[in-house]
Amino acid sequence: MLNFELHNPTRIVFGRETIGRINELVPSGARALVLYGGESARRNGVLGQVHEALGSRVVFEFGGIEPNPSFETLMGAVEMVRDKKLDFLLAVGGGSVIDGAKFVAAAAAYDGDPWRIMETHGAAVTQAVPFGAVLTLPATGSEMNRGAVITRKSTQAKLVFSSPHVYPRFSILDPTMTYTLPSRQLANGLVDAFTHVMEQYLTYPVDARVQDRISEGLLQTLVEIAPQVLTPDENYEARANLMWSATLALNGLIAAGVPEDWSTHMIGHELTALHGIEHARTLATVLPAAMLVRRDAKRARLLQYAERVWNITEGSEAERIDAAIAATRGFFESLGVPTHLRDYGVGAEHIDAVIAQLEAHGMTALGERQGVTLDVSRRILEASL
Ligand code: NZQ
Ligand code: ZN
Repeated sequence: MLNFELHNPTRIVFGRETIGRINELVPSGARALVLYGGESARRNGVLGQVHEALGSRVVFEFGGIEPNPSFETLMGAVEMVRDKKLDFLLAVGGGSVIDGAKFVAAAAAYDGDPWRIMETHGAAVTQAVPFGAVLTLPATGSEMNRGAVITRKSTQAKLVFSSPHVYPRFSILDPTMTYTLPSRQLANGLVDAFTHVMEQYLTYPVDARVQDRISEGLLQTLVEIAPQVLTPDENYEARANLMWSATLALNGLIAAGVPEDWSTHMIGHELTALHGIEHARTLATVLPAAMLVRRDAKRARLLQYAERVWNITEGSEAERIDAAIAATRGFFESLGVPTHLRDYGVGAEHIDAVIAQLEAHGMTALGERQGVTLDVSRRILEASL
């Protein structure tokens, strides 16, 4: 096992009827800003419950944070925090709103050009306004981690920043908040959480048995619950298992002491920035292709994945790896998520531009052994078509 440090300060409050707990979790004298996305949070009543819990505190609202939150939009919230002297943020939404709140929290407390936060991938952040979250979409794990992905629309740059200062102080995880999600977003959540585990699991073995088995357990859970998650019924247990799986998939636990890949995500971010494909849907096209192109470097893990996640034990090594890749693709397709870039109108003629953006963003040596050069990314994109 590799050396590691693990320090996750986010308090999780999980379960039905937990939104009222905001009253204890937000300081009583706080001047709060509630951040949200489009109209889903108001329509399904979450925003109303949040206001009720905040009671007589001074509360402002900032709505309109779009999926793949933009620097341009978020700077409006940064101004509001400064003008109104607000000292606590509350994100109500999915990964986009929570990521947006992380940026606002860091930028409002930053002296200088806030885009530096993104250019330095978070190294420039030395403090942030405290914030909490009410999660409405299980997918990204942003509710319990220190990362955020922000897009600058003017340059089509979708970049990641990470800082210990932007862990949420708390996150409310009430699975009933997912009842209003369209099946498309639930499918996206399953794919995103699955791929987060794969980015930390499908690398090379370091004899980290606990992490391996937790990862395999999360992958199997996601596969097992998927059919119930996608039914329109208000299936509390399925949604609760999805929510907790997605949080554990990216809260630092399974990354502790193991190598990490993340190249599927970095290629995926460029596809979202250039072609507007939803985050999880980029992953569903890139991951199976990356498994194919990098099958030699990942041979040992692919065989372990085949056996322990999919019970594939028959045939030659090459056959078992082929079957594991096919099972992964089949799982995504079974959720109604396409696994080819052509399904989004992206063809060979678009690959040069993706490679150019990867190069512009310094993404030239990705993966667990920095072996994903621009040439390897090109081959992965070609295999994704
Ligand atoms: O905007 P509203 O009206 O709220 O609608 C949203 C949005 O259109 C809707 N929605 C959310 N909760 C709902 C709901 N609709 C009905 N009922 C509810 N309860 O869902 C749509 C998508 O929301 P969004 O927040 O964009 O989705 P997601 O949670 O998948 O977040 C995606 C973003 O997170 C980033 C992605 O790159 C992308 O920008 N990621 C963040 C990560 C992190 N911080 O650790 C890691 C991930 O790999 C990912 O990159
Ligand atoms: Zn993701």
